[in-house]
Amino acid sequence: MKDVYEILEELKSSIEGGYPELPLSMYASRELFELEMKKLWPRVWHFLAHESEIPNEGDYVLRYIGPNVSVIVAKGDDGKIRAFLNVCRHRGRAFSKVDRGNASFFRCPYHFWTYSNKGDLVGIPQDETFSNVLDRSKYGLIPVRIENYKGFIFGNLDGKAESLENYLGEFKWYLDLAIRGGDVEVYGNPIRWVVNMSWKAPVDNFGSDSYHIPFTHRSTYSISANPLKLEDVGLQPPEGVKKVPGGFSGYQFASAKGHGGGITSLYDITQENLDKIKELPVPEKIYQIYPPGLLEHLKGKLSEDQLLALKMEMLTLAITRIRVFPNLALIVHSLFSGEERQKYVQDYLLRVWRPVDVDKTEVLTYCLVPKSANEDYKRASYRQCIFMQDASGILDVDDVENWIMQTRMSASVIGNNVKLPMVQRLKEGPVEDFPLPHSKEVQVFREPADKSSLAWWKRYVEILLS
Ligand code: FES
Ligand code: FE
Repeated sequence: MKDVYEILEELKSSIEGGYPELPLSMYASRELFELEMKKLWPRVWHFLAHESEIPNEGDYVLRYIGPNVSVIVAKGDDGKIRAFLNVCRHRGRAFSKVDRGNASFFRCPYHFWTYSNKGDLVGIPQDETFSNVLDRSKYGLIPVRIENYKGFIFGNLDGKAESLENYLGEFKWYLDLAIRGGDVEVYGNPIRWVVNMSWKAPVDNFGSDSYHIPFTHRSTYSISANPLKLEDVGLQPPEGVKKVPGGFSGYQFASAKGHGGGITSLYDITQENLDKIKELPVPEKIYQIYPPGLLEHLKGKLSEDQLLALKMEMLTLAITRIRVFPNLALIVHSLFSGEERQKYVQDYLLRVWRPVDVDKTEVLTYCLVPKSANEDYKRASYRQCIFMQDASGILDVDDVENWIMQTRMSASVIGNNVKLPMVQRLKEGPVEDFPLPHSKEVQVFREPADKSSLAWWKRYVEILLS
């Protein structure tokens, strides 16, 4: 039986050899899961919270990095956001089980040691029994390094890791587009559920796999959640923008740092029609789908090029998908929901796939809304997000069955022997004439492709073998 390093080496050499094949066991091997706990989760930047979730002093949320490192993100009485390991310094109990709240102090239920929301140890019952030898200042909560990227708070267990800015690298351009320059907020509480699947199955799909959309989601599209067409709001495609026969078109992004994503549409997006889109006004009716005045509002928050990409998304009703390595995804959809009150409103989803076990994943769904939108729009977008993407959301129901079945096969005895080809558009190089930024670090390809997925696996192997 091959060990985990042999399998990783095999994947590495198949990528380097020019014909990438993924061993099926990569999804749900127990050895790999354990290696991830040692080498992956303690080193990567991990999305923890959005600052809109903790607007007031004393607000806090409980989150995880990897399977079992529990972290509190709190806004202190001084207005500063900090993160701490959810570990009491006395005997190591996780002191909080509460998902979110507001508190000046955290008190551990075991022996009532008490910490301020700035992390200081401020209360020890029967203090005198500690013989005056215990220096309180040494036993505050253990801080987790955080960085705030335009409202998105990431944590890293490795104090020496590269900065978040470097970690994101040139992919920030695409991330900024998806997060609308930071002009978004979380609406409602994140929705959580657990699925019997490996976290890597959905991660491989989100951000990379536009290929599955017309097939896996065919039945859904046939009854209720069709990708919205311009005709639905009484518009025609802009001159030069054609429908793609029988599927989706667009571009896929792949970063050497493991990030990826794409812009996918029912309409063909080319250099030529992008030039035309540049000149076109945005019809008022598009603002039935997008918050009124969005493009104007984002001037100054996004560059000219980013505004053009957003306009392209709007005028072709494209789906924008972004995946930040390893397990964060953002998707902005224009889907027809069939329900009168919300049928044209975009839904906007942030998703974290947290491994709980090798074949168990907690799905965290945050519904995002544009900060600048009015309350009616926010509410409708939130309802759309729930309708599409919560535990019974019509899209997730289609998807999870695939990922559960993949995981089962991966964990079985055949997992090491079955190889999966990662060769969609293998022979096609990056698109050089795509007018949005691309470089050696972030390359752009035609959709659908395996390129973004491949970039993710490449980075994953690098980290696990390092
Ligand atoms: Fe927390 Fe003892 S373990 S007070
Ligand atoms: Fe899907």
